[in-house]
Amino acid sequence: MSAPSSDYDPVQVSALQPEEVARARDAALAAVAAATTLEELKAVRLAHAGDRSPLALANREIGALPPAAKADAGQRVGAARGAVRAALEQRHAELEAERDARVLVEETVDVTLPWDRRSRGARHPLTTIVERIADVFVSLGYEVAEGPEVEAEWFNFDALNIPPDHPARTMQDTFFVESADSGVVLRTHTSPVQARTMLAKRTPPIYVIAPGRTYRTDELDATHTPVFSQVEGLVVDEGITMAHLKGTLDHFGAAMFGEGIVTRLRPSYFPFTEPSAEVDLECFVCRGASVGDPDRPCRTCSSEGWIEWGGCGMVNPRVLVACGIDPHRYTGFAFGMGLERTLMFRHGVEDMRDMVEGDVRFTLPFGMEI
Ligand code: DAH
Repeated sequence: MSAPSSDYDPVQVSALQPEEVARARDAALAAVAAATTLEELKAVRLAHAGDRSPLALANREIGALPPAAKADAGQRVGAARGAVRAALEQRHAELEAERDARVLVEETVDVTLPWDRRSRGARHPLTTIVERIADVFVSLGYEVAEGPEVEAEWFNFDALNIPPDHPARTMQDTFFVESADSGVVLRTHTSPVQARTMLAKRTPPIYVIAPGRTYRTDELDATHTPVFSQVEGLVVDEGITMAHLKGTLDHFGAAMFGEGIVTRLRPSYFPFTEPSAEVDLECFVCRGASVGDPDRPCRTCSSEGWIEWGGCGMVNPRVLVACGIDPHRYTGFAFGMGLERTLMFRHGVEDMRDMVEGDVRFTLPFGMEI
């Protein structure tokens, strides 16, 4: 800013000339009127009423005028700045009102609208556990095999070295389709998928699991259901031994129940494996600490330290022969576990009926695990 000077001619300060001031004011008023949003108005305010706006710069020049000229120039510039300020305020109020009205419409919530009264369902925990098991084995290079639930007696029994006089074949256990001599049954286990896989593939290596639904003529109660699920495992390759079976079961147990959980094999009998064993799982809750310690009872394993999990063994050479595989070249192992049982001790489900009744109040707490 220049210093006051008595011989300073205001007419020479172009910014203060009446037309200049009027022009700056009109430009400002036009810009204010043209602003259609609060953001635009903010920019207009900066350009026309900010510190570096023409009117602000003109205002600064007033101080340098001779006293006689100050009043006139000051009045003119002041009036122009006042008009711009008033216009800005008014436009701001208008734009704010417009925005509020728009937001009210755009963000309206109609609280009278009806909501969806159907509650969401959830995937059944049996489905989830099958997928979890499949993940474990697929990551080991296994394939997931399937077989029919309505099965030929030959696959369900004969191919698996279960002779016609075997107790499992009597009417007591097996659902026969049509009549008992129809030769068609509801599969009593997933083991027929073993025979189907070997016959379909013909030449090992075979590494499969077969999860699925199975049927037996049991009454539905807390610990039995006529429709239940199993997962079958089958490996046939050169040089397969029981050590491979044990290692696989240990890996399976740890993947499902926690790092370090191991399995134990107890001698048993199944017609389709030789030797055969029951698979027990180390109790994943007490890890054996409850055994012989009355102060630390374990409900999961009934303080046994082990939980019965399924059956297993080395594939009986007679089964390999029935399925066209050379038992002198190949050996294999197999295992089978009940999935309802697995869920029962894994999640503390106490009544099997909960798993077949389809009540979402049972499935929901298992969540939407994917
Ligand atoms: N199929 C048998 C059952 O339902 C379970 C089983 C036992 C499957 C031993 C196997 C096995 O593959 O090797 O009781």
